[in-house]
Amino acid sequence: MSSLLAKLSEITGAAFADYGADFGFGRVIVSNRPDLCDVQCNGAFAAAKTLKKAPPQIANDIRERVASHPAFSKVEVAGGYLNLTLSDEWLIAESDQRLDAIGAEPKLKIIVDYGGANVAKPLHVGHLRSAIIGESLKRICRALGHEVIGDVHLGDWGLQMGMIIHELSVRFPGVAEPPVTLDDLDEIYPTASAKSKTDEAYLNAAREATAKLQAGDPGYRALWRKIVNLSIADLKNDYRKLETYFDLWYGESDVNDLIPPLIERLKREGFAYQSEGALVVDVAEPDDKQEIPPAILQKADGAVLYATTDLATVEMRVQQMHPDLILYVIDKRQSLHMLQVFRCAWKTGVAPQSLAMEHDGFGTMNGPDGKPFKTRAGGTMKLKDLIELVTTRAEERIEEANVATDLPEEERKEIARMVGVATLKFADLSNTRTKDYVFDIDRFSSFEGRTGPYLLYTAVRAKSILRKAEERGLLVFGGAAAASASPPVLAENRGGEAAAAPLSDEERDLVARASERLHGRPPKISDVTREVHLSLALFRDKVLAAFANRAPNEIADYTYDLASRFARYYHEHHILSEENEEVRASSLELVRRVLDTLVLSLDLLGIDVPERM
Ligand code: ARG
Repeated sequence: MSSLLAKLSEITGAAFADYGADFGFGRVIVSNRPDLCDVQCNGAFAAAKTLKKAPPQIANDIRERVASHPAFSKVEVAGGYLNLTLSDEWLIAESDQRLDAIGAEPKLKIIVDYGGANVAKPLHVGHLRSAIIGESLKRICRALGHEVIGDVHLGDWGLQMGMIIHELSVRFPGVAEPPVTLDDLDEIYPTASAKSKTDEAYLNAAREATAKLQAGDPGYRALWRKIVNLSIADLKNDYRKLETYFDLWYGESDVNDLIPPLIERLKREGFAYQSEGALVVDVAEPDDKQEIPPAILQKADGAVLYATTDLATVEMRVQQMHPDLILYVIDKRQSLHMLQVFRCAWKTGVAPQSLAMEHDGFGTMNGPDGKPFKTRAGGTMKLKDLIELVTTRAEERIEEANVATDLPEEERKEIARMVGVATLKFADLSNTRTKDYVFDIDRFSSFEGRTGPYLLYTAVRAKSILRKAEERGLLVFGGAAAASASPPVLAENRGGEAAAAPLSDEERDLVARASERLHGRPPKISDVTREVHLSLALFRDKVLAAFANRAPNEIADYTYDLASRFARYYHEHHILSEENEEVRASSLELVRRVLDTLVLSLDLLGIDVPERM
């Protein structure tokens, strides 16, 4: 099913074609003067050149061709602009959104490389942003029907592993299986890393341990496995609390065996050569505005580097998964590294030219002091600390706002977690991805304003209206507000776990039919009702735009806009107390559509909505 703007563009496009001009001139966009019209077409300006006519005349001629179309209630020309107002009937028909009905063609196979956590090394806010943005991009791609694989690309293979192994051998000399716990790991890496900075012999020993591990020493491998497993179990737990679900838990180590033959081939084919003791591949191109240094694949001591594992990972992905597109959701400061890897992969045939690879970089999450977000004690903020921080703040806010007071303790705790996640994710995703931003927890945890908690509150309010309507027998179906069968796309985003869906398919049909039965033709609707319908009808276009621009913030803006329109609607209309059955039925149907769409758009941001609050 195509989007609203695509459908409208077809109508005006056909008029342009009939007029002897290019179909493409009919492109319709959202109006930048909402006081005058809903949507507009500026094609007359572009067509003026080829048609050798003045834009106002062209616009008038197009107006004549489209004015009687049932989609429009008013078509006006201002200068050369064609201002279009949608008819209520059309708008209402178009505002029933189903996420699984958005089709994007062609369907692509997309890998999203995000998360990028490192084993036994604390995660920092950069990893947090990667998880939040990557999860959202993954869901946006999936919602459009693309085949999407999210891969955490674990850092499990570098010098940090050698450091930890060496430190353990110092602490437990001669012990093959040192009794290491998760808490130990938290402390061991910082200790080992500090020692490596000051003690050269220690660093060399750590390097040796790394080399031995990578060469396959059985004892080191067993110890390494144990550390990796401990770490993964812990990471999964943290990521789950953040509503982040990876399809693949591959690590850098998974491509270890691909590296020697890859390096051999690149040498043989003349791509890789020795330079100052290192093995490098030139990746500079004639049009480069700045110097792009060669990609380094191997150092003099034989150690391979970050770029090498990334290159081998491209090879593995191409061979095993045949992707059309790989999105790398990584700190923008790694852009040179990514560029070198991409160019090297294309140049050497590791990646076919047809494979698109993109670095979707992001800026830094800063604290109120404008520096990267830190703990109160001034240390780097670990994922756990941050989750705890936002959850505790959510608990306080819930207390203050007198929300969820009558709910059981356990449910309140879970609601606090969800509100905390919404605080964090919405604050992050409402910013342009590439910009740095300040995470002001006081502002973003509020139940008022442009915040995650406000959006959850609004969605839950819509749920509660439907629940009450059901209790009072105003709806002809059961279980409106109860958790029911999830649309497949919602479940898929949670690694197959069922999610609470606002309505089951059956219930949805029942509401729609009840409102249809009551009125063949919709009654005259208020301005704010129109605004809500228009916002709903544009949902698919927003998802398409967010995908095209790799911009979750477009969904975030949209969600806030829809929620605030709905809040205005709610303010101005009696929904449950409305006496006129017909009006009440269409009101409830509108609430149902708003709820569906809010839940879906929040889902695209990776935010879950509680059943009640
Ligand atoms: N582990 C890396 C880090 O902590 C991030 C990995 C990003 N993904 C990639 N394919 N390079 O910086």
